[in-house]
Amino acid sequence: MAKKVLVSGGAGYIGSHVTVELIEAGYDVVVADNLSNCDMTGFEGVKKITGREEIPFYQIDCCDYASVDMLFTEHKIDAVIHFAAFKAVGESVAEPLMYYRNNLVSFLNILEVAKNHGGCNVLFSSSATVYGEAEVLPVTEQTPRLPSTSPYGNTKQMCEDILRDVVFATSSSDAVINGIALRYFNPIGAHPSALIGELPRGVPNNLVPFITQTAIGKRECLSIFGNDYPTEDGTCLRDYIDVVDLAKAHVAAVSRMVEGRMKKGYEIFNVGTGRPVSVYELVSAFEKVNNLRLNYRFVDRRPGDVMAIWADTKLANEELGWKAERTVEETLASAWAWEKYLAGSGNN
Ligand code: WQD
Repeated sequence: MAKKVLVSGGAGYIGSHVTVELIEAGYDVVVADNLSNCDMTGFEGVKKITGREEIPFYQIDCCDYASVDMLFTEHKIDAVIHFAAFKAVGESVAEPLMYYRNNLVSFLNILEVAKNHGGCNVLFSSSATVYGEAEVLPVTEQTPRLPSTSPYGNTKQMCEDILRDVVFATSSSDAVINGIALRYFNPIGAHPSALIGELPRGVPNNLVPFITQTAIGKRECLSIFGNDYPTEDGTCLRDYIDVVDLAKAHVAAVSRMVEGRMKKGYEIFNVGTGRPVSVYELVSAFEKVNNLRLNYRFVDRRPGDVMAIWADTKLANEELGWKAERTVEETLASAWAWEKYLAGSGNN
């Protein structure tokens, strides 16, 4: 009997890519999403890629306890991957209450319902933003978290601590919750089929969708936020990880949980490439691999940006048996193919 995974926020950018990899790895998947930050394009693409016409989908808000409870009543859930959260750093500074309520209540409901249904494996979508401006690079899972510069990042830290505490409290109960937090660095790119990818609502906050929308003509010019940082070319360094590689890390983590291979009840893994890439290097690579010229200009630094962060991925490589494989060039080519697909499909 295939193990069943609930993917909350599963119609979104990362959630849809993870759903594809889970199905292709032999898992049954139940997808829940309130469609507050995406439409059904991603979910429809998942069905096309996997050839699965019948994937249970529930348009529900995880902030509604009864809705989450219904999912666990209707399905025997072996693991939950929780993506359902707001994720725009800048917006969270302007709307902290909206972020704290949505990101915390949704996760509290997942945990409480899982506990009330006899326990479960819970995989939490965390973020490298919990490290803030780390003094020593690359960061390991033991690198101290710094006070977050945004409510968004703070909700990630708080949810990690909530998961840790619930794991501890249930460890000798008859409703055990095991937990893994995956700290993503910068997810970019799209599925090789170009049937799913990043589809931000409105003006993109993140770099790569802004690049591809500038290249396709939806945006006039890319603004590079700061070229006066003390880095080689003056622009910020990040660890850009391909979204399909990231999705495969989730399958590796879920398998570790459901196959009983965890070494502790609560584990944390950095999910990155270990390769720092500057904004300017990324823009240049995009132009080169896609044989085009991008319209960009250098402007002032963006408040809240850290100068540099990238991952020490040793723990994930060794314990999850997972390593990022796609090159930045392959990923940027996939991002461009996706943008061109959107332009052709009129979905923009
Ligand atoms: C990357 C670099 C910008 C846009 C955040 C969150 C993280 C995750 C990913 C959700 C920075 C520069 C960007 C632009 C630019 N969130 N940039 N012009 O801020 O590293 O991470 O998004 O999953 O948790 O913290 O990502 O893509 O916004 O920025 O120059 O138009 O690109 O200054 O140096 P970030 P980003």
